[in-house]
Amino acid sequence: MTNFLLIFLSIIVVVFMATVLFGAPFVPTHQKQLKKLVKCLKLSKNDVLVDLGSGDGRVLNTFAPKINRAIGYEINPFLVFLSKIRCFKNKNISIKMTDFRLEKLPQDTTIIYIFYADTFKKSVLKLIKNHKKSLIVISYGFQFEELGAGKRKHGFWIYKT
Ligand SMILES: C[S@@+](CC[C@H](N)C(=O)[O-])C[C@H]1O[C@@H](n2cnc3c(N)ncnc32)[C@H](O)[C@@H]1O
Repeated sequence: MTNFLLIFLSIIVVVFMATVLFGAPFVPTHQKQLKKLVKCLKLSKNDVLVDLGSGDGRVLNTFAPKINRAIGYEINPFLVFLSKIRCFKNKNISIKMTDFRLEKLPQDTTIIYIFYADTFKKSVLKLIKNHKKSLIVISYGFQFEELGAGKRKHGFWIYKT
């Protein structure tokens, strides 16, 4: 039993370390700031949000009641499991275990949410470029100069494409 627990814990540590090495460790967005952000955005029931690296699902959970659908792409299986439990009550949330770089944005996506450093900038810009519709891009803490001046609110950079 102890051996099994040790192996299981080691696997968790290795998976979390792997995301650190790939450049985007799990660090959750500050919940209070998230709530302030959602209050100040003009969200509607036509909005579809994609969180590119959805972590424990807090972004999805905070946006979901105000919008049509919230979708999470998350590479870490433990976080996918945890967030599915956390988001269980919101029926308009879906979470896919995947590397977001292999995905396309659903056609009706209107908002994307990103929280990580420059490592993935190119991939995010490619996703945005390939999306046919205009998007609101929300980046927590990191600027996307390539998308223009943007606006800064409660620690988030907000851009319109
Ligand atoms: C800084 S955390 C942000 C979590 C969440 N969006 C939030 O703001 O609370 C970045 C997340 O991206 C995930 N991640 C890292 N690389 C990824 C990739 N290539 N595809 C999907 N998710 C990835 C990590 O596992 C981590 O949960």
